This record gives sequence, structure tokens and C-alpha cells, in this order.
Amino acid sequence: MLVASNRGPVSYQIDEEGSLHARRGGGGLVSGLSAIGSDADSVWVCAALGDGDREAVRRADGGLLPAADTGGQRVRMLGIDPAVHAAAYNDIANSVLWFVHHMLYQTPMEPVFDAEFRRHWASYRAYNQAFAEALAEEAAEGAAVLIQDYHLALAPRLLRELRPDLRIGHFSHTPWAPPDYFRLLPDDIAAELLGGILGADRAAFLTQRWADAFTACCQVVLGPDAAAGTRIGVHGLGADADFLRGRAHQDDVAERMTALRAEIGPGPDGTARRTIVRVDRTELSKNIVRGLLAYRQLLDDHPEWREKVVHVAFAYPSRQDLAVYREYTAEVRRVADDINERYGTAGWTPVVLHVKDDFARSLAAYRLADVALVNPIRDGMNLVAKEVPVVSDEGCALVLSREAGAYEELGEDAIVVNPYDIGGTADALHAALSLPVAERAERSKRLAAAATALPPARWFLDQLDALRN
Ligand code: G6P
Repeated sequence: MLVASNRGPVSYQIDEEGSLHARRGGGGLVSGLSAIGSDADSVWVCAALGDGDREAVRRADGGLLPAADTGGQRVRMLGIDPAVHAAAYNDIANSVLWFVHHMLYQTPMEPVFDAEFRRHWASYRAYNQAFAEALAEEAAEGAAVLIQDYHLALAPRLLRELRPDLRIGHFSHTPWAPPDYFRLLPDDIAAELLGGILGADRAAFLTQRWADAFTACCQVVLGPDAAAGTRIGVHGLGADADFLRGRAHQDDVAERMTALRAEIGPGPDGTARRTIVRVDRTELSKNIVRGLLAYRQLLDDHPEWREKVVHVAFAYPSRQDLAVYREYTAEVRRVADDINERYGTAGWTPVVLHVKDDFARSLAAYRLADVALVNPIRDGMNLVAKEVPVVSDEGCALVLSREAGAYEELGEDAIVVNPYDIGGTADALHAALSLPVAERAERSKRLAAAATALPPARWFLDQLDALRN
């Protein structure tokens, strides 16, 4: 069994003395894979992402990373030429494919499919070819290969050409755009991308909505029967309740709760202030700025909440090589500062914004949450929507975008919003803060049950079973 993804389960930092420090990553894929343990027959192929990783590849024996760094897993990290990787990752995967799948292009000046784009596309192809070759080398006769995400959309077809004996699966962790939007890609690129995934025996998605959009794109771009040879599947990744609850009750999380309570402060009459919590990468699709504007409107429309509520917003840096992400990060800060200046008082900071990634502090905020705000423009699933109800101490209300994949599973007990509608989101925040305690607890319980229906280990094994059968 092989897994392939751009970001692997471990990353390396190199210090001033030249020593390497390994750090295990989190996320559904890592915990899903740990379900199969350190199976000697499985290999995870990933890309070296920074200088530390590249140094680790140079020192790696036969391409495999030291077992001590990977928890025993066999991990082969690919030392792809940094310029090729940067073009594939920044310029194609994150600037074109991510934008198409999340429908993020918004000015008449974008996108630009010119000669430079074609050069970047050639790098994207080369990067996918490097993965296909490494997988072809590592795979035993008839092995199952699970290829992950939009970074590696061409790899299934390229691998199929090298190794027709393999069982190949592809999984998309993003949404998929409907044909009218998808077709803003040049026709040959659109066809190559779809044909790349159709090189797999099975193409899987997080929700039926994204699976249907993919099938519709294949029909429109490639013709009515083009997808006939590939099975389409849906596996809605859920939260890992055991891990989250265990981790959320460790000492470092309790310390962070104390610190966070101090930042939130007591309400006017000595009662605890309500908290509206959001935790995201600072990601354009997460819609953080409109979330802040909705909170501002709540304070305008319902002055009775002033001094009694705090918006705890964690926006962790992401993809900072891209100018548009840096600008977005600055805008998040600006709007948060503006709200604090306009409404804040001596004893009340309306928005508590943190931008330094800290998992223990995220869990502390989850535990304290009265309301979780998850309002993405578009999102493959959104695990925060699933994690907060599982972890919150008192049970929380969930304000959820109908454009998040999680909506399909959580829509009934969430307070659902159109993510573009700031007034509607302000109303939803008011409704969430006003939910009677008992109803909130009931809803939160049902949300947590739905959120954990398919934990990462089963999500992973289901895909593997479906591919093998
Ligand atoms: C999304 C993608 C993942 C990606 C993650 C973090 O969830 O589907 O493939 O790893 O974002 O983004 P990054 O660019 O930091 O890997």
C-alpha cells in the first residue's frame, strides 16, 4: 500500500549548527494512516518542502527517512528541484487549482493564462511525473496506491502509464467546481486535469456535491462516457473524538484556558462573557474578514451584547509566499483592530485575535466556545466545524456556511448561513448566542455524534477497502 501527498507526515527544521529537527504533522491523513501502524509493506511518498526537508533527503538512506523521525512509518521524501516545486505548488496548485476549486477568482483581471502560466504548468507536470516515477519504483506487483489532492491530479494517469498492474485511487480534499466555472481553465488544461484523475481506478471526494460536480465536468469537457472507467466514491472525513478529547484535557491546554479567560475578562455583572470562536489558517476561502464584519454588525444591531461577548479569532499564517495571502492576513488584522478601536472599552476587548499557530491554544478555545463560527466561501469539508462540538465543555452552537462540505452532515443542527451575507451572518450569531441552554446542549450533542461518524482511521480504511474490492 502506498500513499502520496505533497505535504508528508513529518517536516524538518535545520538549526545553526546544521542539526536536523523532525516534527510530526497533524491532520486527518496522518491519523488515518497511523491506523495501519508501521506496516512494513506500506510507504508514504511526499515532497521536500523546505531547506530542512531537502537536507534530510540528502542524508536519507536509500531515500527513506529514519524510522525514529516518522514513528516507524516508511516515508520517502522527494527532493524535487526547488524551482520546479515552487512553480507546481505556488503558481499552479495554490494559485490556479485552489482558486478554481474554491471559485476564488474575483477581478476582471484574473486569471491570466499566458506563456508564463504554460511554463508553470510544465513544472506541475514534471512534479507529478516525479511522484509517478517514485511510486512506480516503490510499488510491489498489484499494490494499492492512494494519491492525495489537487497537487497530484496528473499523477494517477502518469503512474498508470508506468504501472498498469497497480490499483490507483485519487482523493480530492477540496471542493470541485461546477462545469461553468471549471471551464475558465484553457480547454486542453481542463482536459488534462480531468484525464489525470481519471487515470485512477477510483476517484473519491469528501461529499456527494463535489463528486457530482467532478462527474459533470467530465461529461461537459471530455464527453458523456469519459468517466465510465473510473469509479466515483464519497468518504466524509470526520473528527477523531478520542484523540481530541484526550489531548484537550492535558495540562498545557488547561494553562492556555487560564490565559485565554484572562484575555476575555469578566462580564459587566461579574458573569462570564460569551465567546464566539473561530480557528482557521489565514486562508482566502475561510472568509475571516466577512466573519469579523458580521461580528461588527452584531455589535451595531444588538448593542445589548456589548461588553458581554468576545470574538476569539485565531488566524494562523498559511502560504505566505503568495502576495494575496500576505495582503489578506494584513486585512484581517486591520479589521480586527478597527473593531477594537471603535467599540472597545477599558475592560473589554471585543476581538481577541491570535496569529501564531498553537494547537494547544486552539483546543483551549474550543473548550471555552459558546458559539463556533465557520463561514467559508467554499470548503471541501472543514474539520473545525466538526471538532468544536466534540471538544467544547458546555456544548456550543455552530454557525455554519452552507458552502462547507460539513454542511451536508451538520446542516440540521447548525445555524446555517450564506457566507457572503454579512447581515445574515450577524443575525445567525445573535440567534446562536440566544439559544436556550438546554437546546444548545442537545444540538451540540447531535453535532458531535454526526461529526465523529467516520473517524480518520475508518475513513482511510474504507477508501483502501473500496479500492481493493
Ligand atoms: C488543504 C489541502 C491540503 C493542504 C492543506 C494545508 O486542506 O487540501 O492538501 O495540505 O490545505 O495547506 P498547505 O499548502 O499548507 O499544505
